[in-house]
Amino acid sequence: MKNLDSRSHVRGESVYLDDIPVVRGTLYACVFDSPAAHGRLVFINPSEAERSEGVEKIITAQDLIGENQIGGIIPDEPLLAESEVHFQGQPIAIVVAETEELARKAAKKITVEIEALPVITDPRVAAANGDLIIPPKKFVLGNTAAAFANCQHVFEGRAGTGGQEHLYIETQGAYAVHAENGGLKIYSSTQGPTAVQRAVCRVTGLPMHQVEVDVQRLGGGFGGKEDQANAWAGICAVAAQLTKRPVKYALHRMEDMRMTGKRHPYSADYKIGLDRDLNIVAYEATFYQNAGASCDLSPAVLERTLFHATNAYYVPNITATAYCCRTNLPPNTAFRGFGGPQGMFVIESAIAHAAERLGVRASDIQQKNLIDDGDEFPYGQIAESDARTTWTQADAKYDFTRLQKEADEFNASSKYLKKGVATMPVCFGISFTKTPMNQARSLVHVYTDGSVAVSTGAVEMGQGVNTKIAQVAAEVFGLPIEMVRLHTTNTLRIANTSPTAASAAADLNGKATQMACESIRERLFEIAQRLVEAESPEQLSLADGYVRRNGERTSLDWQTLVMDAHLERVNLSEHAHYATPGINFDWSTAKGHPFAYHVYGTAIVGVTVDCLRGRYEVDYVKCCHDFGSSMNTAVDHGQIEGGIVQGLGWMTMEEVFYDEEGRLRSNALSTYKVPDIYSVPETIEILPLQTDRKNLAVFNSKAVGEPPLMYGIGAYFAIRNAVNAFTKGGVVLPFDAPFTPEKVLMGIYEK
Ligand code: MTE
Ligand code: HPA
Ligand code: MOS
Repeated sequence: MKNLDSRSHVRGESVYLDDIPVVRGTLYACVFDSPAAHGRLVFINPSEAERSEGVEKIITAQDLIGENQIGGIIPDEPLLAESEVHFQGQPIAIVVAETEELARKAAKKITVEIEALPVITDPRVAAANGDLIIPPKKFVLGNTAAAFANCQHVFEGRAGTGGQEHLYIETQGAYAVHAENGGLKIYSSTQGPTAVQRAVCRVTGLPMHQVEVDVQRLGGGFGGKEDQANAWAGICAVAAQLTKRPVKYALHRMEDMRMTGKRHPYSADYKIGLDRDLNIVAYEATFYQNAGASCDLSPAVLERTLFHATNAYYVPNITATAYCCRTNLPPNTAFRGFGGPQGMFVIESAIAHAAERLGVRASDIQQKNLIDDGDEFPYGQIAESDARTTWTQADAKYDFTRLQKEADEFNASSKYLKKGVATMPVCFGISFTKTPMNQARSLVHVYTDGSVAVSTGAVEMGQGVNTKIAQVAAEVFGLPIEMVRLHTTNTLRIANTSPTAASAAADLNGKATQMACESIRERLFEIAQRLVEAESPEQLSLADGYVRRNGERTSLDWQTLVMDAHLERVNLSEHAHYATPGINFDWSTAKGHPFAYHVYGTAIVGVTVDCLRGRYEVDYVKCCHDFGSSMNTAVDHGQIEGGIVQGLGWMTMEEVFYDEEGRLRSNALSTYKVPDIYSVPETIEILPLQTDRKNLAVFNSKAVGEPPLMYGIGAYFAIRNAVNAFTKGGVVLPFDAPFTPEKVLMGIYEK
């Protein structure tokens, strides 16, 4: 089934923040942001801007009625800079004017005096200076020191990954409108309506029941709006509060790129030890996370790096340590995979390093060490593993040996064009690693005409969560999907939501919806039992808009049943709450059972590299993916293809570049390259894992949002293998992603 939004999307009728009709009297905000990455803010001069045409008000930190603070995990992030600035792009003042253009024009007239302080952009330098946002975190299993002593082979090195711009098509933004009695209604392009509500309350001083947040849909979030939509909502709210007029701010692309955080770049040291048979016996990794200037979600991202430090492998002895390093960059934030990909890249580098030195294929080491049923993850959870089944089924379908042989044969007869192949197993844990976040609510109304309205805490951002939730309701009520309508995500209807993140939105909100619908169905069956003269409700079911008795369609249709129930004063609405059972995690021991389940998969990636020019193409990505049993293959395949291409982009062409002054140089689409239709591989093949295993996903349909991104990591190693085929080991390349064409070329011809 198609994504329910497809039709309105292609007709340009879908409503995003900037499409919401504005109320008369609306003002427009624009931020004046710091031109320096670190310094003492000596003086702000807004006077010329204040006199600028159409300007209603200039707001600085002193003007706030509430607290000048939006930091969620740690209160280290002012809404507006006060005495210091910590990154280029940090908001200093809000200009509110009659039009967007006049606001932006006035903002240019603000001047500041900043006394420069040292700018740190390298996380290792920050760590050496002791500038950590939280104390280091550590995972330990077994005894690495003792294990290394007994290893046949030990390899050490460094591996690092770059940042990644979210590049959601819809930029960040918000619109604040006054409600009666001093309240505010906030329209926001956010993955976390409750996070926005909290931030708005903090900076305005309003209680939560005075602030309504409403989200229709996002033009993409990818993690960038899990936490970082808060600032813009806070800015509009404060401006609305102080001007007593509605205020809107939709960021321009370059403002968004400059002022918001991205995927965390990481630098890591690794040490891997193998025995004679290529079993990984010991692994040590130290991660330096480039967190940026304030905490944001960095500690949670850092945790997931540790959770996924061994990817899909069983390693009996591991020590993984992670440092959350404060630098003078915009605060980095959630991005599809949430630190997991950064952890996985390092162990894949360690394996590639070992393979290159030992003269074996990385896939031999990978396959040998896949995690099996009953093996323990470093964090104490026992695996119910399909790592090996996805590998085997992918190999059976795609024939890894044949694909490798094809590349070898091609390379034997081609001088400058070289093919490279790499396998990429993935294991990704599903649940927020912070256990309390794994809860959701759904409000279901059945109207007297039989149509159904559903509201949940899930935010639709293109991933199709609304379609899946509608399918759940349609399934429970035995109705065609057209009878079900998903409504906006709104804090008045659904309170205290977790953000739509961690790939868990369909599971959490879908399960809550299932529960709500089942409660209503139970009440309807009490009525239906009498009407169709069934002995018990167990004989009844709903399908195709009719009540069935022992599987046989009766004459009682859904609409009649609903109306009869209403006339009998039966409650046709339900608000249900779901909390993932069986999960826990204790940071004092760093052990527990944090994930409801894992998603497994194995991909094989093939590339062709032009070793004269450094250019390359990804020829294919073929994977066996663990859907459980997909409830919507169209949506899920879209998620896999999109995730793969986004992962390929991160590993190959997307290069976030800050100079030594902390200025973003890749600040537009001319300098920051993302995959376009021409860089999408000719072939993306998806083979669903055949499995009868039960899981905790909604209707056994596993989360799919993030895991496929990590198949893209295979592209890095495939390019590396192609380059190695050309240089025949004559050059030792660093493990340094993204592997841009420039890096390929400079790597080959460095001498
Ligand atoms: N797909 C689209 N089209 N747009 C997005 O913004 N975000 C990704 C993924 N797929 C995203 C997407 C991220 S980061 C997550 S966590 C999940 O969707 C969230 O949605 P889910 O929990 O419903 O899978
Ligand atoms: N994933 C995504 N977002 C999150 C998580 C997580 O595990 N924890 C907190 N926010
Ligand atoms: Mo996704 S990074 O968990 O929003």
